Amino acid sequence: MHSIYHRLNTAVTFFGTVAAVLCILTSSTDLLHKSNPNIKLGLREVRRLVQHHGGKDQAVVTFDVNADLRSVFTWNTKQLFVYVQAEYETQENRINEVVLWDSIVQQKDKAVFKLSNHKTKYAFIDPGHNLRGRDVNLTLVWCVMPRVGRMYTERHTVSVGKMPATYI
Ligand SMILES: *[C@@H]1O[C@H](CO)[C@@H](O)[C@H](O)[C@H]1NC(C)=O
Repeated sequence: MHSIYHRLNTAVTFFGTVAAVLCILTSSTDLLHKSNPNIKLGLREVRRLVQHHGGKDQAVVTFDVNADLRSVFTWNTKQLFVYVQAEYETQENRINEVVLWDSIVQQKDKAVFKLSNHKTKYAFIDPGHNLRGRDVNLTLVWCVMPRVGRMYTERHTVSVGKMPATYI
């Protein structure tokens, strides 16, 4: 059970990450359209910080998002791929990115998010044991997929402070 769960979870996280990487690789800035999104984002609670067998750290967290991305939509917008990721720096990697939640928006009037004390959709797992006391940023990323032309990505990052210093 345990390993099946983990495999599934890894696959799910992997898909989220692939979408994110695709967005980043194909991104270019749309200079013609100036959007004016209104965004608040934060980490609400660290409910647990545990170490799994094999040494992976997992943080169980909840977060808040208050975002109005309606102004991102233009006549040429097919959909938005919106996701929240945690970012932190370790000795091995300058940037570690873990996708925690994502959503696809196909209509302008649906591009309003009010998530309060929300659980992550994907597990916040570090492949090592690097999360204790770690400074973490949360970023809301919106990848704009146009009907015609190239995708582009914009983001809003906040620093949310340190993870607990010990496992809880
Ligand atoms: C976190 O955000 C701060 C300020 O926005 C930035 O200077 C820092 O490089 C970020 N850290 C990571 C790991 O992305």
